[in-house]
Amino acid sequence: RVSPQDLVGRSAAIQQMDWQALRQSVAECAACNLSEFRQQTVFGVGDQSADWLFVGEAPGAEEDASGEPFVGASGQLLDNMLRSIKLNRRKNVYITNVVKCHPVGNHDPKTNEATACEPYLKRQITLIQPKLIVALGAVAAHRLLNTDESIAHLRGAVHTSNGIPLIVTYHPAYLLRSPQDKAKVWDDLCFAVKTMNDVISV
Ligand code: URA
Repeated sequence: RVSPQDLVGRSAAIQQMDWQALRQSVAECAACNLSEFRQQTVFGVGDQSADWLFVGEAPGAEEDASGEPFVGASGQLLDNMLRSIKLNRRKNVYITNVVKCHPVGNHDPKTNEATACEPYLKRQITLIQPKLIVALGAVAAHRLLNTDESIAHLRGAVHTSNGIPLIVTYHPAYLLRSPQDKAKVWDDLCFAVKTMNDVISV
């Protein structure tokens, strides 16, 4: 068991790391039980000085096998979502997850797992300094906004996470199960573009 003091010390150390140290620290992480079952960690992909940061939930089995976020079915949908607003995963966009290891059995990340992994996402955000964060689904929205409101309630507004504008939309995996909500996600993507333009023009 990791004590609260150890957690604070570990988090403080992570907040000093450069990209290389951070990547290595994630690759070697054993801060929660997920480390025992993973094939590899899934750090993130994209442009390290991107304006756009997309945050998902946790790697699935395909991501665990490939080491890259959002490469399975929901990743293909995310790629289509990005393309619809003239973005792609390598340019001006960074993509990562709340949790860097695949939760065995695809369970939602548990609170202790998300808490153990939080310093990594926090440091990624500080290093990237995105102009807008898009939280994909409830896990990311809840962690980044410290709330437990539903996506239905949170979408359509500009929130802030540590001073950075943040908008919320449904997770692509949810959208695969509930295609009737595609129009809402399209609205959210248009709202994201408008928000980005507003942020850039000030
Ligand atoms: N779902 C996520 O939330 N993240 C991934 O990387 C893949 C699927």
